Amino acid sequence: MSKKHKPEKQQGYLHGFTPEEQDRLRRQARFLEDKVHDKLPYRRSRKLLEVGCGVGAQTEILLRRFPDLHVTGVDSSPANLDMGKSYLESLGWAHERYAFHQLDAQRLDFEEDQFDAAFLCWVLEHVTDPAQILSEVHRVLAPGSPIVVTEVQNASFFVDPYSPKTLAYWMAFNDWQIELGGDPFVGAKLGNLLQQVGYRDVTTKVRTFHLDNRRAGERAEFLAFWTELLLSGSSELLRAGKVEEETVQGMREELEQVAHSRDSVFYYSFVQARARVF
Ligand SMILES: C[S@@+](CC[C@H](N)C(=O)[O-])C[C@H]1O[C@@H](n2cnc3c(N)ncnc32)[C@H](O)[C@@H]1O
Repeated sequence: MSKKHKPEKQQGYLHGFTPEEQDRLRRQARFLEDKVHDKLPYRRSRKLLEVGCGVGAQTEILLRRFPDLHVTGVDSSPANLDMGKSYLESLGWAHERYAFHQLDAQRLDFEEDQFDAAFLCWVLEHVTDPAQILSEVHRVLAPGSPIVVTEVQNASFFVDPYSPKTLAYWMAFNDWQIELGGDPFVGAKLGNLLQQVGYRDVTTKVRTFHLDNRRAGERAEFLAFWTELLLSGSSELLRAGKVEEETVQGMREELEQVAHSRDSVFYYSFVQARARVF
């Protein structure tokens, strides 16, 4: 594992930092909690590093599920961190169990071996050099520490009835994320990335939402959540001239139709990787 720092690169963020987006992140974390926080290996951990803690949405879940844990969260966005601090303060029970720092995770301002666990969720998709971040996390983790990384694999998205405007928008959404320096397909690469920077016992699990008539309620809920996620990037995409208003409107209508079709199908997979430092 390299302990050298690479130069930082400027990154964009396609969802923006509005209060609506901050609220969406919190609802998203709760909505996906069962799958993202399923049997996490932190029972014996006491000092966890959360990279890209955003508005504290995952921090709250980690602190709630692991009462002996202290979470150090780092994020490059002061607006998200401020929101996260007031959210966790408002909970009362989380008091003194977390510390937030504004940092670019490519350069973690911590000593070696300082933490005994790490958690990253929906952050590597937004960065130009995920290996550098994983390498930095490796440096500050003590031997034996577990790391869990959860990431998108956007090539997996499918809905039926066939929705061409939605797919056109989705391609533009992914292209724009790549142009901003991110990687909407990083989930599939997590195994390679973790191995490359020196982690051991690397495993990956594909977590799939395959929702059809057998789970109509969940399908309806998921479609509403997904529509909101897609639209969260629409102002940026329109401003950058990457989509037309007509495509956004067409997507809304198609997703409405999918939501009300008798035999509709929603399919999406993300990847969760786990590993250890030795
Ligand atoms: C989609 S949000 C996810 C937040 C949180 N993990 C969650 O699941 O709710 C991605 C977060 O990563 C942060 N981020 C992006 N690039 C970063 C970097 N290089 N260093 C630290 N944080 C970064 C953004 O500011 C944002 O808060």
